[in-house]
Amino acid sequence: MSIVRAIKDSRPVQHWLVRQGRRLLELARSEGRPERLTESRVFYALERRVREYLENKPEWGLEAGGDGLQRESFLLVRDMLDFLVAHSAGDVQRGHNRTLNRLEMLAKWPELRSRPLRCYFETTNRCNMRCRMCGQSFFRGDRVDMPREAIAQLGPLFHFMDDVSIFGYGEALLVDYIPELLDAIPPHANSWLVTNGLLLTPERNRMLIEHGLKTLFISIDAATRGTYQFVRGVDAFDRIVAQVGDLQEQKRALGSETPRLTLTFVAMQRNIAELPEFVRLARRLGVGRVIADYLVVYSRDMQAQSLYYEQERSDQIVEEAVRVAQEEGVDLTPPIRFSSPVERAVRKPRCAEPWEFIYFRADGLVQPCCTNSDGMARWVGAEFFDYWNSPAYQHLRRTLYTAGQSPWCRGCIHVCYRDIRRESAHLHIMPESESAENGQ
Ligand SMILES: C[S@@+](CC[C@H](N)C(=O)[O-])C[C@H]1O[C@@H](n2cnc3c(N)ncnc32)[C@H](O)[C@@H]1O
Ligand code: SF4
Ligand code: SF4
Repeated sequence: MSIVRAIKDSRPVQHWLVRQGRRLLELARSEGRPERLTESRVFYALERRVREYLENKPEWGLEAGGDGLQRESFLLVRDMLDFLVAHSAGDVQRGHNRTLNRLEMLAKWPELRSRPLRCYFETTNRCNMRCRMCGQSFFRGDRVDMPREAIAQLGPLFHFMDDVSIFGYGEALLVDYIPELLDAIPPHANSWLVTNGLLLTPERNRMLIEHGLKTLFISIDAATRGTYQFVRGVDAFDRIVAQVGDLQEQKRALGSETPRLTLTFVAMQRNIAELPEFVRLARRLGVGRVIADYLVVYSRDMQAQSLYYEQERSDQIVEEAVRVAQEEGVDLTPPIRFSSPVERAVRKPRCAEPWEFIYFRADGLVQPCCTNSDGMARWVGAEFFDYWNSPAYQHLRRTLYTAGQSPWCRGCIHVCYRDIRRESAHLHIMPESESAENGQ
């Protein structure tokens, strides 16, 4: 280590930095001038130190193996960034919020001053299909639409977001205010919409293009009419493929590159053989991206469809699909092969979802990720920080990766412990499905 670095890292220098930082913040506050901070090297030095300390800690979180000086530095930098967010606008404000969010996540801090960077906006939990593998058929909650007024309440938050996904449990296109919602998403953000495609028409396709949707995911799961009908329960394969073609045609005619399309494929025993052809279909339709992932079994009657019980055949077909994708120039995200080395199959846990992400449900609750469906609080008509820092939310953040963590996190298959060679990674039987089958 260089002498300069050793001096900078010394405790007296760090104490000095904190003292200077406090003075600076006081001055900035009393004068109402954020540039007092952003024009000073002290602010950047403090911010970098806190980040490096948190990033390099073997244990996650500020309080783990706590150090008083580091705690003080974190709290000071947090106050500084909070002040900067409050006294700036536009891209600069978004940048300060992003820095604050990252530090609060690294510190595993439960009560946040930063806003999330991504969200799901569930326009409805109703659906016009009953796909074989989906929990829709035994969903017990109230079937509701997000009210149009939600756009006025939540729209201002989109300013802080990198991603706004029009996505949730149901079929997003069932509501009539999609144009208004798309207009509320600022140009810097990626807007996503996930659909089963049944409601796509030339008029809706044009609307999606004209209102600036950036990415459209269409769930098709099959390369033939019969398999489509098996998985999705309706005879609509030809119609949806035709609408995808129309959308591409209209984009060309209007000179628009967006929405960029992705076709998705839930891989199971019945449809896996069609994955290579599905990639070719994407190519024929001019779609550049395909995402395929394993079926998650929600009900016992689907267990026999899991590729967990047909690993060799599945791996062979996935290899073939990867080869076809390379030939056809399609960006395929394939399921992780069962035979892949452990490091590739298991993801290292440090879930950032309860800090970076928020899921606005149509029923008026927020949930912390797409796995944990416990409502953390009600967002309807509430102040943002009241629900973002609700007791349930803070408890979830505090206990993540501790013995007291939520059962959802313990068994989480989506972000954390997804070792696809374990049967449990494929089975997620919902109790509602058992009672539905029992006719209760
Ligand atoms: C719940 S749907 C909601 C959006 C829309 N209705 C659709 O089908 O695209 C979201 C995604 O989850 C996928 N999906 C549904 N059930 C699944 C399961 N059991 N395992 C894995 N993915 C599933 C769907 O294919 C779809 O791409
Ligand atoms: S269309 Fe989507 S939400 Fe509806 S049943 Fe199928 S997978 Fe589920
Ligand atoms: S359930 Fe999974 S994704 Fe959700 S907060 Fe827990 S660990 Fe993260």
